[in-house]
Amino acid sequence: MIYIHIQVDCKMNKILEKLKNITTTYQPIDGFPHTTTDLRKKGFKTILNTIVEYTGNPKGLKFLDVGCCFGYFCFQLEKMGAYVDGVDISLGRINTCQALKKYYKLSDKTINFYNSDMNERIESLKKVDYIIMLNMFHHMLVKDEKKSWETFNKLLNKSKAIFVMMRNSYGKWEMCRHHNEIGDAVVKNSDATWYKVLGRVHGRIIYVFGVEPKSQ
Ligand SMILES: C[S@@+](CC[C@H](N)C(=O)[O-])C[C@H]1O[C@@H](n2cnc3c(N)ncnc32)[C@H](O)[C@@H]1O
Repeated sequence: MIYIHIQVDCKMNKILEKLKNITTTYQPIDGFPHTTTDLRKKGFKTILNTIVEYTGNPKGLKFLDVGCCFGYFCFQLEKMGAYVDGVDISLGRINTCQALKKYYKLSDKTINFYNSDMNERIESLKKVDYIIMLNMFHHMLVKDEKKSWETFNKLLNKSKAIFVMMRNSYGKWEMCRHHNEIGDAVVKNSDATWYKVLGRVHGRIIYVFGVEPKSQ
């Protein structure tokens, strides 16, 4: 047992060591300011604020972040008192989240990370208050459109709302050149009956959507 713990610690330390030498990461990482730019930090903060404006005070709320990457939204929401689960298909990214969780001295009671394809994790998922699916759903859609919408519907029915954000550069899902296209497509393909454009980041064509299920 002790041997396993030492092995795990070594791996975590290696990940943190590696982060010290990385110049740019997809998301800002607290404690590693050199991995991001002020502009990127500002953009992520805007998205976070947009979500929190919608949910109200996150204290005590349960969030699921699908495609959580390095856990930016998970860690920020946990800091505000939320209970958060992050899921990502990338083992490397989840290992980094685990290393950061340990580095920030956070507990399993408030924050957990899972390495999984969302399509496979959906059946075992418990209800949450809100789901975050930012810049990731197009990755699922291009792989298996039918299954992705099925998963999306199951997610909808396990939450009060899903926050969706997609770019306009993902092959055939060129939906958000006009901001309504993406919301209309979500309503057309899923059980969602309502959506709202919540914000715009850096004036680029990136929109945050709040999508709610039928039975509110
Ligand atoms: C472009 S990044 C976006 C990260 C983050 N959501 C954000 O907006 O800052 C997409 C993330 O989704 C993850 N991802 C892609 N397909 C997935 C799937 N089927 N299940 C879970 N995660 C997935 C990728 O590994 C990656 O970390």
